Amino acid sequence: MKRFEISLKDKVALVTGAAGGLGGAIAWAFGAAGARVFLIDLLEDKLKEISQAMRAEGIDAGYQALDINVSGAPQTLVDDVVREMGRIDIVVNSAGINRPQKSEEVTEKNWDDVMNINLRAMFFVSQAAGRHMIARGGGGKIINLSSQAGTVALPLRAAYCSSKGAVNQMTRTLALEWAKYRILVNAIAPTFVETPFTAQMFQDEDFKKYVLASIPLGRMVTTEEIADAAIFLASDLSNMITGHILAVDGGWTIQ
Ligand SMILES: NC(=O)c1ccc[n+]([C@@H]2O[C@H](COP(=O)([O-])OP(=O)(O)OC[C@H]3O[C@@H](n4cnc5c(N)ncnc54)[C@H](O)[C@@H]3O)[C@@H](O)[C@H]2O)c1
Repeated sequence: MKRFEISLKDKVALVTGAAGGLGGAIAWAFGAAGARVFLIDLLEDKLKEISQAMRAEGIDAGYQALDINVSGAPQTLVDDVVREMGRIDIVVNSAGINRPQKSEEVTEKNWDDVMNINLRAMFFVSQAAGRHMIARGGGGKIINLSSQAGTVALPLRAAYCSSKGAVNQMTRTLALEWAKYRILVNAIAPTFVETPFTAQMFQDEDFKKYVLASIPLGRMVTTEEIADAAIFLASDLSNMITGHILAVDGGWTIQ
């Protein structure tokens, strides 16, 4: 009988949004599975704190504070990581924002910010990493943080839902184009998770009730459960899965 062991030993993983709830949990899980991790976020103090804590646990962790939405930043970032860590095997695109607003009040700036960070920056980080993986002879995994909002409509989230729907299509398109290079591109589509991202919206008790009532399994997902899905997609257990949008939503989107 084949024995499965989930290991990312010696893989180099680049994680954007790594100071955030999901990016942080994924980076920790990858490190615990043996990966060497490189953390990216806007929040330098937090990155420093996380990487120090990781190193104290024996995890090889580098970081860079960076706005991945700045033109040219993703390519420079990938070049820097390859110089520092030697290669990139896995990319987790977790940087993202949401600006809940009534559609009749959405500003052009908020629309552009949400689309630029959630979609444009994700594409150009993937492009830069993909170029590196192709130049190295192929092979690699890219994991995009989408959302159930890419499939179902959620109130006050016209830009956010649009960006995540586009993330799903971007994931499939990259998966198709880069299959010949054995670069596997998948997305994780969580329901609501309790992180800094959602803390503010859950102060509204009615909203929290609506969310819990919409999840057949009756609870929100934990950051660890999203990290479990990411480990699966990063590991050899998913080597024939590409272009897939993995719902981790307690059943929200089956209704
Ligand atoms: N938390 C949820 O309920 C939930 C549900 C579904 C999908 N998601 C998605 O998962 C991803 C991570 O969410 P989270 O809950 O960890 O959010 P979070 O706010 O905790 O973390 C996101 C991180 O991205 C960073 N970031 C934002 N813009 C950046 C930029 N331009 N350059 C570099 N870093 C930037 C932020 O500083 C933050 O630390 C997002 O894409 C989000 O849309 C979250």
